[in-house]
Amino acid sequence: MCGIIAAATDRSVGKLLVQGLHKMEYRGYDSAGIALHQEDGVAHLRTLGKVNLLEERMIQEKPKGKVGIAHTRWATHGEPSESNAHPHSSKNRVFIVHNGIIENYLALKAALSKKGYLFQSQTDSELIAHLIDSFLNDGKSMIEGMQALKTSLEGAYAIAAIDKEDSNYFYLARNKSPLLLGLGKDEYFAASDPLAIGELTNQFIFLEDGDTAAVSASGLEIFDENQKAVERNVTKIDISAETTSKGNYKHFMEKEIYEQPQAIRNTLDGRIGGEDVLENIFGEGSSKLLAEVKRIQIVAAGTSLHAGRVAANWFSAISQVPTQIDFASEYTYKNPYIDENTLLVTISQSGETADTLTSLRHAKNQSYLGSLTICNVPTSSIARESDFLLLTNAGPEIGVASTKAFTTQLVALMMLAMSIAKAKNVNPKLRTRIVTALRALPEIVEESLKLKKEIQEISPKIAEKDNALFLGRGMFYPIAKEGALKLKEISYIHAEAYPAGELKHGPLALIDENMPVVALAPESELAEKLISNLEEVKARSGTLYVFGDASSNMQIDSGKLMTMPKCDFLLTPILYTIPLQILSYEVALIRGTDIDQPRNLAKSVTVE
Ligand code: G6P
Repeated sequence: MCGIIAAATDRSVGKLLVQGLHKMEYRGYDSAGIALHQEDGVAHLRTLGKVNLLEERMIQEKPKGKVGIAHTRWATHGEPSESNAHPHSSKNRVFIVHNGIIENYLALKAALSKKGYLFQSQTDSELIAHLIDSFLNDGKSMIEGMQALKTSLEGAYAIAAIDKEDSNYFYLARNKSPLLLGLGKDEYFAASDPLAIGELTNQFIFLEDGDTAAVSASGLEIFDENQKAVERNVTKIDISAETTSKGNYKHFMEKEIYEQPQAIRNTLDGRIGGEDVLENIFGEGSSKLLAEVKRIQIVAAGTSLHAGRVAANWFSAISQVPTQIDFASEYTYKNPYIDENTLLVTISQSGETADTLTSLRHAKNQSYLGSLTICNVPTSSIARESDFLLLTNAGPEIGVASTKAFTTQLVALMMLAMSIAKAKNVNPKLRTRIVTALRALPEIVEESLKLKKEIQEISPKIAEKDNALFLGRGMFYPIAKEGALKLKEISYIHAEAYPAGELKHGPLALIDENMPVVALAPESELAEKLISNLEEVKARSGTLYVFGDASSNMQIDSGKLMTMPKCDFLLTPILYTIPLQILSYEVALIRGTDIDQPRNLAKSVTVE
C-alpha cells in the first residue's frame, strides 16, 4: 500500500529517495512520484506504473536537490494515473504526499473550490496541499499549517510536505497512519516504513498521533498534538541489506518459503524450555492474566485470520477455552457482546492492517480482560498498542503473499494455547508432548520442502485450469482456505476451499475434468470420512492431488498422491501448509505473474 519517504541531506537526494521507493515496492502500488527543492524551484515528477519508470524520467530530466519527498501510491480514490499520483501540489508552491484516507474530503474539497482552488486529481489527498496553502495565505508558517490540518481533516493520515519558499525543510504530520523519522549524521529522513530507510540509518523515532515535525539537514523539531515541542525516544533497529534482498532466489516469496525452518526456530527460541512453555512469554504479568481467561475473541484479516481459525481448535483442545473469530473488517461494526474474562487476540504480520488496528482501538474501550497480539513487526502500531505481545521473529516478509509469517503465527498461537493451559494447570502431559513435537518441527518442515520436485510435476496441470477446489476437514479446512487464497493471490486462478464433508452440499456440481481438486488427508479420525469424500470426486472424473501421509492408502487414477513426512497430529496444519505454498508458487511461475507484487494487492493494508 502507499509508501512515503522524505529526506533532508547535504548530498544529492533524488537517488536516495528512489532507492527508498524501491524498498517499499513490496507493499504494492500503482504509481510513483517525487518532488524536490532545486535552486530554481521544485522539480516534480510522477509516473504511472513501476518505480523504474520514475527512475528513467529522473535520468532524462536530472532533477538536482538535497531536500525532497517521494511516494508510491495504491489507488483508493481515483484510478491509477499520473495525475492521481503523489506528490500533489497547490499552485506549484506546496507539495504533499499522503498515506491514509481523508473521510470528509468531499466537504473540504467543496469549501476549497469555493475559495478558488482548482483540483487536478480525483484523489482525497490533493486537498491537503490546498489546505496548507490556504493556511499560509492566512499568515501561518509551514509548521503552523501542518498543525492546523488536524482541525480540518477527519480520518487517517501520514503527510510529508515541502514549500517552494522554504527550501531547506520538509514537514510532517501524523494521525493514525505510520510515520517515522530516521536520524543520520547531518541528515534526516522520514518514511512510513522503516525498510525504506533501513540502509541509511538504524536510529528511528516513531511519531505519535497528533505529532508534527519540521526537518532540515541540520536538525529536527517535533511538536505534540498541543503544538508543544517534545523529545521522542530514539529506537535502534538494525535492518541488514541481506534480510531485504532476494539472495539467490528468483522471488522474495520463494526465499521466504524456504526460510521457514529457520523462521520457526527463531519463533521458538527462548519461549520453550525443559518440558513446557516458559512463563510470561507474552510480557510481564501475562501468565497471571492467562490464568483468568474464560473466552478468546480473535480478530485478524487475510492469511492471519486463517492462522486464527486453526488456533481456535488448539484453544479448545489444549487450553479448554472457547473461541470466537471475526474478520477485522466486520468486528468493530457488529456491536460485539463481550463475555466476562474474554481475552482479545489480534494476529497481524505487519501490525498496521487498518481493520485490525481499528478493532484493537475499539476494544480498548470495551470490557475485555486485556489485549494480546501475535505480530511480526516490533515497531508497528498493533505491537505497541497491545497490552501483551509475542513477536513471531520471522524477519521481514517482503512477498505480498504471506508464507513464513503464517507458519510462525501458527507456532506462536500454539505457544499461546499451551501458555493458557499452563496458567490454568490443565493438560500437562499433552504440553510435554507438544514441546517435544515443536522442537522437532523445523527439521520436519525442512523435509517437506523436498516435495518441490513432485509438486513441479503437477503444477503445469493446475496452471492450465481456471478454477481449483481445496478440501480439508477439521483444522485442515483453514489450511485448505489458506492454500486456495495463495493460489488465487499470485496465479489469479479462481480457487475455493471447502470442508470435505460439505462437498455433497453444493460444490460437487462443479466437479469435472476441468476442476482440479487439492485435498489434505493426514492420518486422523476423520481420514476415512475424507477418503469417502474424495471417492465422490473420483466418481465424477475429477482430478485429485492429495497430500497425505504414509497411512493414506488411496488409489488415485487421475491425479497424484504426495506423501508428507510425519509429525505430531496437532502440528500437522503447520506442516501441510508448506506444499500448498510451493504449489501456488510453482503454478504462478508457469503463468508468469508478478509473484511478489500481485496485481491490485498490497502487503500492508492501511485503509479500512
Ligand atoms: C493483506 C496481505 C495479506 C495479509 C493481510 C493481513 O491482504 O496481502 O498477505 O494476510 O493483509 O495482513 P496482516 O499484516 O494484518 O497480517
